[in-house]
This record gives sequence, structure tokens and C-alpha cells, in this order.
Amino acid sequence: MAVVSVREQLRQRSDYTYKFNARTGRHGWLRLTPAYSIKIVEELIADYSQTRRIFDPFCGTGTTALIAAYHRHEGITTEINPFLVWLTQAKIAHYSPGEIVAAHHASASALDLVKRQRIHPMPAPLIHNIERWWNPESLHFLQLLFPAISEVTRECSTAHTLLLIAFCRSLIELSNAAFNHQSMSFKNDDQIAINFNTDRAGVFSENVRFVLNSASENPAGQSDVILGDARNPAKVVEGPFDLVITSPPYVNRMSYIRELRPYMYWLGFLLNGRDAGELDWTAIGGTWGIATSRLIGWERPENYFKSHQLARALDKIVHTDNKNGVILANYIAKYFDDIWNHFQCLTPVLASGAEIHYIVGNSAFYGTLISTEQLYAEMLMELGFHNIECRAIRKRNSNKNLLEFDVVAQW
Ligand SMILES: C[S@@+](CC[C@H](N)C(=O)[O-])C[C@H]1O[C@@H](n2cnc3c(N)ncnc32)[C@H](O)[C@@H]1O
Repeated sequence: MAVVSVREQLRQRSDYTYKFNARTGRHGWLRLTPAYSIKIVEELIADYSQTRRIFDPFCGTGTTALIAAYHRHEGITTEINPFLVWLTQAKIAHYSPGEIVAAHHASASALDLVKRQRIHPMPAPLIHNIERWWNPESLHFLQLLFPAISEVTRECSTAHTLLLIAFCRSLIELSNAAFNHQSMSFKNDDQIAINFNTDRAGVFSENVRFVLNSASENPAGQSDVILGDARNPAKVVEGPFDLVITSPPYVNRMSYIRELRPYMYWLGFLLNGRDAGELDWTAIGGTWGIATSRLIGWERPENYFKSHQLARALDKIVHTDNKNGVILANYIAKYFDDIWNHFQCLTPVLASGAEIHYIVGNSAFYGTLISTEQLYAEMLMELGFHNIECRAIRKRNSNKNLLEFDVVAQW
């Protein structure tokens, strides 16, 4: 493993001039807490002039697959959350001018139905404390707009999909949700503009314009997204891949389901809180609702990841003066066992000499640093990867010990 000081790595990094500009509005179709940078992917892909098969086992909002396609590579990605699969499919698709025009006309027809009240409102989704999300006027507008979109478009048609993306953007704009670095929260009373007179139809039309504009910029290459579990990629994708560029979940107790719940409830991907917890439990690092209570009785599998460094950290966390020490230690242990499982099942789909990049942050719990990048490197070494390096990319927040790394290795 190459050892370069973190300070030196960060210095070299900031000197780097990016070859490509961040492009395409498709990247920003939905507002989410920033996690993964388009620039990081472009910079990694920039070195490859020949077409590569690029794999991203943890798709998220599809950055790797989208950027791969824009650079004429083939990006294949898997994701466990069906909503993100749907979103990524829409992002990487090619749209004809006729489809864009049809979507534009359909949006006008949908708004006309809403304006003339020619549509029955759908029941409000069962989001906990829905009144904190939307005021009654905005909620009613969304309850009319959603069925109006379905009325004027065929289900699963491109017009339907593109208008639903504009709907998703609008539902957040009309909500009290605020985005900060860590996760989504609610605006406080001072931040909520009094919006009785908000032009809600105007908000939707503006979002339709934005979505259709970006949809008209088609990528040059083809990418694909598949619903599947990164702990068994060979079940759903066919190798060999030349390159893996991915950002797995971090060990930070962030729940992607929690973050995405407004979209997922409105679009019918979630029906109630129990479904949300169940889905979170299937995800690596899932920790919301039922997922948390299941961690209490969770036991490590036989094939667990044996590491002195991890064992020491878990021991410290269990023995901290905090009632949540045991559950937190279980959460961390399960996270690394899942990632270990993932790495073991990854190698069969890699080409000989394939390069992998895992963009991941470290974490701290009750003052104990979890060096995720080093634990990844340990796993890769044990599996026989070569040229393993942990390159520091950027600080995660104001805590100088918390960083993001690119864990690089060759198969
Ligand atoms: C850090 S995010 C990926 C961010 C992504 N690079 C982007 O552009 O948004 C990690 C993703 O891994 C997904 N995930 C978690 N467990 C998974 C699993 N077992 N298989 C596949 N995807 C999983 C989560 O749902 C989440 O979307």
C-alpha cells in the first residue's frame, strides 16, 4: 500500500485541473443531499480513451452510469432501491424530439385538467406528519396533478416518466423540506415563505421546461441500470468489467429511504412506514425504523470480516458510556460484513487487471474513528487485489479527521 500523507494528497488534489465541465441537467433532476461528485467520476473516466465497461454496484442517482454514457463508455449499475432504478433509467434513456414535444403537450393538458377541476384528487400519501411537509393548498394541488398526469399520458410512456420527474421536483419545491450537508430536514418557521399565492402551476411548468431541456441532451453511449443486490452482482449482471467506479453507503447511519421518502410515497414505491423500514433493512447501512430494532438481536454471520483494527474499534464503542453502544457496534459490524460479502462476490465479474475506485468517507462514533478506507484496503488485500491505495479526496465537514477517500485497487 502506498503511503502518502493525507495533507499532501489533498494538496495534490486541489492542484488538479478538471478536464471536463460538469454537464447535463439530468444529473440534477432531483434535489438530494450531495454525496458524490460528477467531477470525481469525470476525472476518473477522463484517462480512458477506449470504450470501457464500467460497473457501479451502488447506483444511487446514477452518476457513474450517466457520466459513462456521456463519455461513450458502457455503464452498468445495480441498485437495491426500485425508485432509484426508475430514476436512473429515466436519466440514462435517449429521447427523440417527438417524445419531448409530446411530453410538453401532455403537461399543458394535465395542468388544464387541474385548473378546471376535471379530475378527482388522489388520496394523500401516508407520509408521517404530512402537514409538516405541505400546506393544505400545495397538498391539494399535488393530489390533483398526479392523477392528471396519469390521465393524459400512457403509463410507462416517456411522457409519463418525464412529467413524473417534473412532478417530483415540484413536490419538493412546494414543500417545507430543507437540504443541508448531512440530510434532509424541515425549514424552520423563519425560512418558510408565506406561500398562499404561490403559482403552483407555474412551478410545475418551470420544472417541465427544465426536465425536457435536459432530456433533449442525449448521451452518446449506452448505459443500463438493474434492480439488484451488490452482495451478489453476478446474479444480475454479466462481466467482465474493466473498471468499477462507485460510492457505497458510508458508515454514517444515513438512511437513503428516509431521504427519498417524499418521492417514494407519492410515486407509490412506499405505502407505509413498515415498508420503508423493511426496504431500509435490505440496504447496506440501512438503519431506519424497523431496521434499527432488528440490529438489537442481530448476530454476526460465520463468514464475518475478521480484522484486529475493526475488533478494537467495536470493543471501544461497546464499552463507551452510552446505552446505544451495543446497537451501534452491531450496526458497524453488519456494515463491514455486508461490504466484505460484496467484495467477495465482486471478483467473478471483474476482468483481469480491472481497476476499482470506491469513493467512501470515514466516520467517528463517540470519539472512536472508523477508518473505513483502511478496512476496505484490508479486505482488498486479503482477496488478492494489487496496487491498493487510499487517496484522500476532500474533507467531509469541519471535523479535520473526517475525510472522503478514493480507495483504488487493481484485480
Ligand atoms: C452513496 S449512495 C450512491 C451514490 C451514487 N453514486 C450517486 O450518484 O448518487 C449508495 C447507494 O447504495 C444503495 N445500496 C445500499 N445497499 C445496496 C445493496 N445491497 N445493493 C445495491 N445497492 C445498495 C443505496 O440505496 C444508495 O442508493
